Amino acid sequence: MRSYTLIAPAKINLYLEIISDRTDGYHELAMILQSIGLADEINVQSLSNQMIRVNCNHPQVPTDQSNLAYRAAELMATQFPQALAEYGGVEITINKHIPVAAGLAGGSTNAAAVLVGIDLLWNLGLTKSELEELGATLGSDVPFCVAGGTVIATGRGEQLSPLPNLDTIYIVLAKYRSLEVSTAWAYKTYRQEFGSSYLRDTENLAARAAAVHSAPIVKGILNKDIGEIAQKLHNDLERVVLPAYPQVSQLRELFSAQQGVLATMMSGSGPTVFALVESEEQAQAVKLQIRAAVPDEDLELFVTQTVIHGIQVTSSMG
Ligand code: C5P
Repeated sequence: MRSYTLIAPAKINLYLEIISDRTDGYHELAMILQSIGLADEINVQSLSNQMIRVNCNHPQVPTDQSNLAYRAAELMATQFPQALAEYGGVEITINKHIPVAAGLAGGSTNAAAVLVGIDLLWNLGLTKSELEELGATLGSDVPFCVAGGTVIATGRGEQLSPLPNLDTIYIVLAKYRSLEVSTAWAYKTYRQEFGSSYLRDTENLAARAAAVHSAPIVKGILNKDIGEIAQKLHNDLERVVLPAYPQVSQLRELFSAQQGVLATMMSGSGPTVFALVESEEQAQAVKLQIRAAVPDEDLELFVTQTVIHGIQVTSSMG
């Protein structure tokens, strides 16, 4: 049986601005997304029947249709029924390292890996932009997860403009295992509390989204100036998540007080908090300091770094 093993990196948001609501229930965004080294490993293997099966080592991850990776395989099966008949169904095995429901696009990156893996398994020869387009029907972050690197994302997050690769930045991530924030809740609450200040004029709206291309943080990225990047981190969703989840605020304060931390911010709709740190040694030291301050086993801590790729194939068989 043929199989492919792929690396599916997580992401952090260096920037997240909510510009407006949309009639489809989503929000118009201007974001800067960054792939990080923390990644899941996905194996896709052909089956002799036409089934889709998902296995995962993480007890919290569903293996049915509610898993985005399963829906990615279903999408490929409906889009390419002849390939399904010719090559057979798919068994997907997910080795999870990325925390679940964390604001790190764990589910989206697994779905992106399944799209890339099935494209190879079924010899479809899809282009990156075709894979991204398919990904957009599954979730707003899936196209970015296919592409990876450092990217400006607008629309509902699916319209991508790549930025030049950053030099490696070291990152410490902190997430309470038992704490989950619903993305839908975060956006809905933001709309209720701050929706009155949304732009309604479509021309201004387009101009505001386009403005992200010349935002100071983008200048920092273009100049590879980590100090400038660190100063300009931004996430509008902090306005609703921090007051509702004091543990997230506390993590942010703890990070801010550590030597070597350039800046700290919540990723996506949270609850993961990340810190940009000058060097790997400092990142390890910050991790130890946070662990000493919060000995609670419920707190997961990771040292990782920025990476310049999305889904990558690491091995193939058959
Ligand atoms: O696209 P995805 O399924 O990842 O989005 C999850 C939820 O986040 C959506 O159902 C929606 O409530 C919210 N969302 C939003 N605007 C976006 C992206 C997500 O309101 N641009």
